[in-house]
Amino acid sequence: MEKSSLKKAIYPGSFDPLTNGHLDLIIRGSKLFDELQVGVLNNPNKNSLFTFDERVNIIKECTKNLDNVKVVSFDGLLAKYCEKNNINAIVRGLRATSDFEYEFQMAHMNRELAPDVETVMLTTITEYSYISSSLVKEVFKFNGDISKLVPDFVLEELMRKVHGGK
Ligand code: PNS
Repeated sequence: MEKSSLKKAIYPGSFDPLTNGHLDLIIRGSKLFDELQVGVLNNPNKNSLFTFDERVNIIKECTKNLDNVKVVSFDGLLAKYCEKNNINAIVRGLRATSDFEYEFQMAHMNRELAPDVETVMLTTITEYSYISSSLVKEVFKFNGDISKLVPDFVLEELMRKVHGGK
């Protein structure tokens, strides 16, 4: 990997859609690195509610006040993206012990593929420890109140997408 004094990290995910849990990790992660890229996986095979462009647009809108945060897309192997773009670290969030096994496997596999790229796991704050994009979507679909769980812009986008703006 090309040596650089700039510490760059990527926070990768599907973000379908961005939640307050994600946003909290983006804010905290951005304080640890010179640049934090939010890497949106562009996987046409995955059945997502929001299109790739919508997911990117939502994150851009919700992070526009964070100077060192950049929204990027990637496809294929994350480890390859990191090596190609001189990324030093992968940031992931741990909500509960149930996340651990999957995250542990990914961290080891990514180290195998890109030994110079460290995985940094941040625990979510307690109030967001149970949120996931899929749970938020399901509760919203059945008219549950998710206003404390997602940024206002995401709520508006969900209303437009799921309930036709109502
Ligand atoms: O939000 P998610 O779905 O938990 O994010 C998972 C993601 C996108 C980080 C992971 O699936 C990924 O990195 N995919 C890219 C392909 C890849 O590198 N796979 C091997 C991972 S060890």
